[in-house]
Amino acid sequence: MANIGFTIWFTGLSGSGKSTLSEVIEHRLKVRGRNVEILDGDIVRTHLSKGLGFSKEDRDTNIKRIAFVCGLLTRNDVACISAAISPYRETRAWARNHIGNFIEVYVKCPIDVCRQRDVKGLYKLADEGKIKGFTGVDDPYEEPDHAELVVETDKETVEESVGRIFAKLEELGYLESEETPEAEEKVVTDRLAALGYL
Ligand code: ADX
Repeated sequence: MANIGFTIWFTGLSGSGKSTLSEVIEHRLKVRGRNVEILDGDIVRTHLSKGLGFSKEDRDTNIKRIAFVCGLLTRNDVACISAAISPYRETRAWARNHIGNFIEVYVKCPIDVCRQRDVKGLYKLADEGKIKGFTGVDDPYEEPDHAELVVETDKETVEESVGRIFAKLEELGYLESEETPEAEEKVVTDRLAALGYL
């Protein structure tokens, strides 16, 4: 069976765990022989979206650019992962329509937990008013209504969330189920028998 392209579209607050999950998933997909690309908000903003800020208009432009690239990759059978906050429901719907094979995963985590983690020290600055318009603090985050999956990173381990995401990909037909060693061996012996070696 040929590999089908798809996009895992993470959405969630800064510090919710989107990048961490992306990296683990990327690794596991690569082990399975998939070509994988991650479009991470922080990285995209240093290249593709360099110069954009955090107004609604700029965020929408950022998200549409990411969706455009994910669309190109998805149609070429790449396993694509978007890890941007993508705070607006309507813009995520735009991405969904544009891309097609779209799995929206809400990386849910209470803001106080993100604030405690404060990996980049930005919540502190936002709380002190030194950054204005920070998502979840004084800028909107619209929770998804119809995400394919919700992972709760304050309650699940990374491995549990990743396991649930892989189960969803399998359920939706984007992954071949992992062959057992016995099944793989049978493929080989059947082939050898067909060739007259056994
Ligand atoms: S999005 O809203 O356009 O989807 P994106 O995911 O690309 O955002 O970038 C979010 C990252 O930018 C955050 O994780 C954080 O590191 C940084 N950042 C800087 N300023 C802000 C802000 N005002 N709101 C949210 N994130 C910000």
